[in-house]
Amino acid sequence: MGQTQEPLPKGIDINVPSVARMYDYFLGGKDNYAVDREASDELLKVVPSTRELALNNRQFLVRVVRRLAEDHGIRQFLDHGSGLPTQNNVHQVAQSVDPSSRVVYVDNDPIVLAHGRALLEENENTAVITADMRDTDGIFSHPEVERLIDFDEPVAALFVSVLHCVKDEDDPAGLIRAVRDRLAPGSFMVICQLVSEDAATREFVTDFMDKSTHGNWGRVRQQRDLEQFFEGLEILEPGLVEVSTWRPDTDLAPRQLTQEWIEYGGVGRLP
Ligand SMILES: C[S@@+](CC[C@H](N)C(=O)[O-])C[C@H]1O[C@@H](n2cnc3c(N)ncnc32)[C@H](O)[C@@H]1O
Repeated sequence: MGQTQEPLPKGIDINVPSVARMYDYFLGGKDNYAVDREASDELLKVVPSTRELALNNRQFLVRVVRRLAEDHGIRQFLDHGSGLPTQNNVHQVAQSVDPSSRVVYVDNDPIVLAHGRALLEENENTAVITADMRDTDGIFSHPEVERLIDFDEPVAALFVSVLHCVKDEDDPAGLIRAVRDRLAPGSFMVICQLVSEDAATREFVTDFMDKSTHGNWGRVRQQRDLEQFFEGLEILEPGLVEVSTWRPDTDLAPRQLTQEWIEYGGVGRLP
């Protein structure tokens, strides 16, 4: 991408790095531009584990969706900050367990709708909408959400690798509560985000990403900050962990080898 002369989809700025496109680059995707690759390469100089971290995070997402579908019978998924399509998207994993599973993808980056629609809406049980995940009322009353999700039944609300995009002043814990309060008992919240226990890394990366993305960034947090997002939930085993250690399903699964920053979180069940 970025090398062809195709017209740019509306709302996409190729002069400012985007979190969705940088993540796509780390995952080996093609829906990114020079500006995204340059920012990502700069980031790698400070946090060189970031590519493996992104891949591990994606594997975590796949494992969680499969476990929720197979073990807990979840058939509805609301994926906040879904990112660009890649391999093993949420609907593909969920529908491999039950083809009638329904998935709504939510992302505020218009590139996700522009490049994701064809794949992410490949059947009538999936939809992708452009919305800010902080707008819970708008999302829950969106026609596609109303069409696909029955909130009287359990839902898995996914916030995978997204809360670091929400600033403290936007109250990420309040956002999680607002979603949770609308879900039926037996629903699940899947939450992980970038954390670092090293203050210098935390501050550098937060500042670098905030400047690079022109403010579309929140904060790299600490592990202990994640506990507030799970208040009142029954946390599934093995608890809140670095995500590559969340129920690995093969001995060959990659592990996070370095700890300068990690994806940290888990799965909570509404009582
Ligand atoms: C690191 S990617 C994670 C993608 C996917 N959840 C995963 O874990 O593979 C973060 C995504 O969150 C999206 N995002 C960031 N802030 C958002 C917001 N306020 N509302 C909706 N999406 C947001 C970005 O556009 C990006 O696609």
